[in-house]
Amino acid sequence: MNSWNEGYFTDSTYTYGYYRELSPNFLRWCLTLKGFAVPESSDDDCHCELGIGQGVSANIHAASSTGKFFGTDFNPAHAANAQELAAASGADAKFFEDSFEEFAERDDLPKFDTISFHGIWSWISNENRQHMLNIVRRHLKSGGIVYNSYNCLPGWAPAAPLRELLKLHDSYHVGGGIDNRVKAALNFVEEMIAAKPAYAEKVPSFAQSFDGLKKHDTHYIAHEYFNDNWILPYFKDVVEMFAANKLDFAMTALPVETFAKVGLSDDAWAFLEKIDEPILREQIRDYFINRQFRKDLFVRGARRISVTEAYEKILGTRYVLTKPAADVPLKITTSVAEVNLTEEIYRPLLEFLQEDNFRPKPFTEYLRRHPEKKPQELVEAATFLVDANQILPCQNDAVVKRVKKSCDKLNAYLCERSKYREEISFLASPLTGMGVAVNRVKQIYLALSKAGEKSAERLAAAVWDIMSRQGTRLVFEGKKLESPEENLKLLTTEAETFLSKELPVFKALQL
Ligand SMILES: C[S@@+](CC[C@H](N)C(=O)[O-])C[C@H]1O[C@@H](n2cnc3c(N)ncnc32)[C@H](O)[C@@H]1O
Repeated sequence: MNSWNEGYFTDSTYTYGYYRELSPNFLRWCLTLKGFAVPESSDDDCHCELGIGQGVSANIHAASSTGKFFGTDFNPAHAANAQELAAASGADAKFFEDSFEEFAERDDLPKFDTISFHGIWSWISNENRQHMLNIVRRHLKSGGIVYNSYNCLPGWAPAAPLRELLKLHDSYHVGGGIDNRVKAALNFVEEMIAAKPAYAEKVPSFAQSFDGLKKHDTHYIAHEYFNDNWILPYFKDVVEMFAANKLDFAMTALPVETFAKVGLSDDAWAFLEKIDEPILREQIRDYFINRQFRKDLFVRGARRISVTEAYEKILGTRYVLTKPAADVPLKITTSVAEVNLTEEIYRPLLEFLQEDNFRPKPFTEYLRRHPEKKPQELVEAATFLVDANQILPCQNDAVVKRVKKSCDKLNAYLCERSKYREEISFLASPLTGMGVAVNRVKQIYLALSKAGEKSAERLAAAVWDIMSRQGTRLVFEGKKLESPEENLKLLTTEAETFLSKELPVFKALQL
């Protein structure tokens, strides 16, 4: 039990996730798409993340963006990990062990271009939310951006009693390690649902939410469900708190929602279109899509640019594929809905992006080759493909050059660390200013191939050597592979795919 935790669950450390919504390059791209004025990145930029957790996102962004990075997390183990990563990259980053209250009182902080917080707002006390707003009020530049994500109503309404149950069970069964506590609470709810409570019968999504929850990691479940504080605001409540601190709601960090109709039926869209007031429309949209989690972008003094200017900027941005063109499905899963891409429009565009070894290219280059294409169609293509993470917007060459060294150092450190620990499955791309998912085995392959190794068999043997010494085994289709032959066979197949498909993309992303 800790006394510094202000009701936040700190009996275990948080997971090592990565979130691109915390990337300054991604945030700027989203706002430009929606027609907001955003300053170009520069060496004078200052960015801040509050509640950095293990600091994976914060460090990837500190290494791959220009300017200075600041962040804080009151959990000393989190702050220590973040500081270790920063020392490895050599990026201009300062990560503190301050609580939000302490951070708000610092007088050695600059004015920030972006202040981001992911997965915090719903799980802290009112006082702490106010401390975060004080930081924003005091330290955000005019025109600065704030990103905030949180659990919301109405989507959470049916499953809110599930959280109450888990927390209730835990509060009566003190003791044991975190795994036991989570498992005991899950077993309790499982048995309870089997006994058919009327609530579960009346609200079928209750049991469905529980089934979804069981698949998560115990540390994630503990952080999500075992906190003292847990609020479920409506969007409008959050907008009001931010407005009182001079922040205008701009958009969600979900690019497809720029095309307002995506994910909605014709009836729903016809209803929403009649609502002139944007905040009301956004709130009602949450009912139509039954939204449980919001990713909101606010701007201090939002300024509009013209549609033509926004289109020119979006089409003038370079894009890079995140996989070979042939592997991009024509039915893509965006953050809101599945979207069917038109083959005649998308295949040639994806093949264009693959040309010259995946060289990043602006869509204006494609338009010059195909003057018959409509700019709006290409803006839409960029939106769907970026949303579904099939392509990513790139930083300009001068920025890439400046951040390359810190990314190389961070990536080398992460690949080396992955030999011993399966924790961080992301590397930093200087090209995009974002993280790229690269699992432990692929990180080791990448490090070896950078050192000149080209044979799939030797890559597999090197990984197997590490795994067998540590007593770890691969799992294939849910089954643990026990014999060396089975493990080596799977590793060799993975190494072949790595060399033929992933390595060319990783090279393009400058990993
Ligand atoms: C759910 S985690 C999210 C971490 C990270 N943003 C991510 O998404 O991976 C919330 C983090 O906020 C930190 N935190 C909670 N309350 C805090 C406070 N009052 N001051 C500083 N950090 C806090 C916790 O230690 C934890 O690492």
